[in-house]
Amino acid sequence: MITCPIAASTPYDVRIGAGLLNRAGELFAEALPARRVVVVTDSHVAPLYLEELLYSLGEAGIACDSYTIPAGESSKNWRQLGDLLESLARSGLSRSDALIALGGGVVGDLTGLAASLYQRGIPYVQIPTTLLAAVDSSVGGKTAVDLDAGKNQAGTFWQPTLVLCDTDTLRSLPASVWADGAAESLKYGAIASRELFDDIAAGGLQASPDEHIASCVSMKGRFVAEDEKDTGARQYLNLGHTFGHAIEAESRFTLRHGQAVAIGMAIAARAAHLAYPDSDCIREMDAALDALGLPRTAPYPVGRLLPWLTADKKRRGGRITLVLPRQIGRCELLSLPVPEAKDLFARALSL
Ligand code: GLY
Repeated sequence: MITCPIAASTPYDVRIGAGLLNRAGELFAEALPARRVVVVTDSHVAPLYLEELLYSLGEAGIACDSYTIPAGESSKNWRQLGDLLESLARSGLSRSDALIALGGGVVGDLTGLAASLYQRGIPYVQIPTTLLAAVDSSVGGKTAVDLDAGKNQAGTFWQPTLVLCDTDTLRSLPASVWADGAAESLKYGAIASRELFDDIAAGGLQASPDEHIASCVSMKGRFVAEDEKDTGARQYLNLGHTFGHAIEAESRFTLRHGQAVAIGMAIAARAAHLAYPDSDCIREMDAALDALGLPRTAPYPVGRLLPWLTADKKRRGGRITLVLPRQIGRCELLSLPVPEAKDLFARALSL
């Protein structure tokens, strides 16, 4: 088992290794005093892992209930959040109890938001079961639901008390779900480590998932420790996300998040080339995305994508901060008025 400490305002550990679901009760009891939990999961994950988790928690003397949401991004909404909160209240959950998010990013974001709101905040544990959730959304305390105006438009920062990543649960992921996480993993390399970028492009994640997930989590942890509330350095983690969110929203979430981020990174490489004449990582980015079986061209005309930039939650007043890879392993934050950002993206899309 690898342990990555996250030095957020409330520090916690991310534990990564095979077989951790079996040990969840013991690891939970070491990290939290709570002896009563509600496990939130979804209709895909529940049949696979819920029983094993409840058994392990029960063995450790922790009383458990579970709450299952329909799988998919469409569950990340106010109505589902309200239902979950009402259910917690009906079950008599108290402030000394806790939630566990067992699943991917949708379950993690929704559960984290519920934990931050219920009785003004209770602890929660993330147990990611997708690669994307393992390397990104389970760490760093961003919680959210989607609004009609866009993805993750309402949420809080609420750090988990523990993250348990059982890498056995990642082995049976469908190729498209694995590729989602590969895109987010490649992102860390593109931001800050050419070595990690090359390693992931060469299939390193498959060969040794524990070590590579730990590298990504440690890197994310450094950004979170420096800038927990996402006003400075943490913004680098948005590489590929400004345009990725536009593509994802335009697809009404039929395109997977990692696929959208992959296309967003390819466009960001082109935008970097236009913004910084010395920047030339388009070919390397394209080759890495191809190697991982990820898409790199936007499936919609530019006129349908640009309006989403106005709704992007990364916009501050009339400006938006773009993350542009000047080289692999080195990005720039470029704050532009929204019309200039749209113009840059329009030109990047035509390259
Ligand atoms: N997914 C980017 C962040 O957590 O800041």
